[in-house]
Amino acid sequence: MANAKTSNKKKKGKEVGSKAAAVVPTAEPKHSKAARRFYNENLRDPPQRLSKVLAAAGVASRRSSEELIFQGRVTVNGSVCKTPQTKVDPARDVIYVNGNRLPKKLPSKIYLALNKPKGYICSSGEKETKSVMSLFDDFIKSWDKRHPGEPKPRLFTVGRLDVATTGLIIVTNDGEFAHQISHPSSNLSKEYIATIDGEVHKQHLIAISEGTVIEDVHCTPDSVELLPRQPDLPRPRLRIVVHEGRNHEVRELVKNAGLQLRALKRIRIGGFRLPVDLALGKHVELNQGNLKALGWKS
Ligand code: URA
Repeated sequence: MANAKTSNKKKKGKEVGSKAAAVVPTAEPKHSKAARRFYNENLRDPPQRLSKVLAAAGVASRRSSEELIFQGRVTVNGSVCKTPQTKVDPARDVIYVNGNRLPKKLPSKIYLALNKPKGYICSSGEKETKSVMSLFDDFIKSWDKRHPGEPKPRLFTVGRLDVATTGLIIVTNDGEFAHQISHPSSNLSKEYIATIDGEVHKQHLIAISEGTVIEDVHCTPDSVELLPRQPDLPRPRLRIVVHEGRNHEVRELVKNAGLQLRALKRIRIGGFRLPVDLALGKHVELNQGNLKALGWKS
């Protein structure tokens, strides 16, 4: 519906006779036809797929947005649209989802690194468990102050950590970014520190390095290393680097070697390391350099 005419353009002005109209008679600067053409041809974002626009606006994930479209719960310029591939421009087309108008402005892209505490899950499903998303309540509450007029972002984690695992997890509202860096083709390595109950011997390290079968696939770590003992840390610690990202992969590798895991912490993804001074439950915003270190090719 790019280029589709929207009938409400003129209605957007101030109401005739309203106070604001009386005080500011000509609020909007006039641009020449040539300037408008230049803007439209060179600066305006190109139209995008309806499902992508809904996902970017924080309505739902790309897949769930497609479902909403198929169910006939989305209208574009007054007509029900059941085709997720329809090209739309949120700044021009009038889009409603479940009867609610989609904001013209999309939320800014957010990229955060969280130091996940133990006891938090990375999805928002079950009621009895705390979700890592609750750690962003203040961030979301203060959003309007920092981004006036922008809809609140719909944050989600890139991949998951088990409920008992602590450390680095990336949180974003950018589905493309999440998809790219969590895709196996990104080949990002992940580094974990596993704290072990009991002694660790050479045969344990050999067993871990030989790998184990998870979900019918033989997974071997990139490396495993026993860290030097530290006086303030009585238990042995292993540095384990993997890149497969299968469910409970590190736990399975440790268990399969006959060791008992005490604690597990992720400290690196690709070239991005969890800042050592980032307290549990706290997050930092990622800059362009950090995103590059995570393999983001925007
Ligand atoms: N491997 C695990 O076993 N658990 C995690 O949380 C992450 C990787």
